[in-house]
Amino acid sequence: MNARFAILGATGAVGLEFLQLLAERRVAPSNLRLLASARSAGRKMPYTGGELPVEQVGPDSFRDIDIALFSAGGSTSREWAPVAVAAGARVVDNSSAFRMDEGVPLVIPEVNPEAIGDAKVIANPNCSTIIMNMVVWPLHQRNPVERVIVSTYQAVSGAGQQAMLELESQTRDVLDGRPARPSVLPVQTAFNLFSHNTAIDETGYNVEEVKMIKETRKIFGAPDLAITATCIRVPVLRAHSESINVSFGRPMDATEAREILSQAPGVKVVDDRENNRFPMPIEATGMDDCLVGRIRNDASRSDGRGIELFVCGDQLRKGAALNAVQIAELLVK
Ligand code: A2P
Repeated sequence: MNARFAILGATGAVGLEFLQLLAERRVAPSNLRLLASARSAGRKMPYTGGELPVEQVGPDSFRDIDIALFSAGGSTSREWAPVAVAAGARVVDNSSAFRMDEGVPLVIPEVNPEAIGDAKVIANPNCSTIIMNMVVWPLHQRNPVERVIVSTYQAVSGAGQQAMLELESQTRDVLDGRPARPSVLPVQTAFNLFSHNTAIDETGYNVEEVKMIKETRKIFGAPDLAITATCIRVPVLRAHSESINVSFGRPMDATEAREILSQAPGVKVVDDRENNRFPMPIEATGMDDCLVGRIRNDASRSDGRGIELFVCGDQLRKGAALNAVQIAELLVK
């Protein structure tokens, strides 16, 4: 890809994935600037067989940059996006800082690439939202979705690299008979699962669930879409799983849904009933495609208007860095 890039948050879990994806797209090292906090200044990151220095982000960081990929948390995005835009860069922001702002497109390239227009800041949706809509959108194109009920089984990578390291070390501790000492995530992760660690509002929904609901409505341009979510963290390193129940305006059976999904870009059907093999997070890990299976008619509906699905997608790839890099590719076009 021929553009000059900056990565803000280059030392984080998503940042590492950005580096890999840009290397795959043959972005020259001389066209890449790595930014993080003062903690990382002077660190070196491997890139295409060599090393690139990490700089502390500052007022001059975005000079001569075309595209700035941000994944350093919401407050960092709020502070530095205006600086990057003033310097002439376009920002693809992985945080939730601007997602619901009017005038900021919220984009999944397979769903609503046209929303980008000439926006200077483009928001990358929440990881669970992206992975769900990779399969719900193509069905919605064929038969309008009336209601979505989603339950997630989310990997710890969404909480950052420290959370991934914590799951590994905590698993070792528990196996060795030592107590689990949670510090990054609020409770024991190893051999456990728990309600998503974001705050609960007065309605009883947590922030992650509200993101899935509101962001899907914005991306689909369907402000009244009926959708509800339950978000759970599981002891998986980096791929999210989701159980999705979809109701349609007209009947849709599993055969038709499977046929639609088998042609959907960025989606791979893994639906081997005979051998009981379906999507698994370990198989989705490191993959660009989201895996979908357990495609079946909803047994609770006699009118044939419901489908059940199970999807797995790499949270750091399609759920974050890959989606952002695909947006960057659209910007460069
Ligand atoms: P650093 O390593 O210097 O702290 P993760 O999501 O995996 O936790 O990664 C977060 C990323 O965001 C890291 O690269 C981290 O850099 C970066 N980051 C966090 N806070 C800031 C900040 N205030 N300014 C710049 N980069 C930040």
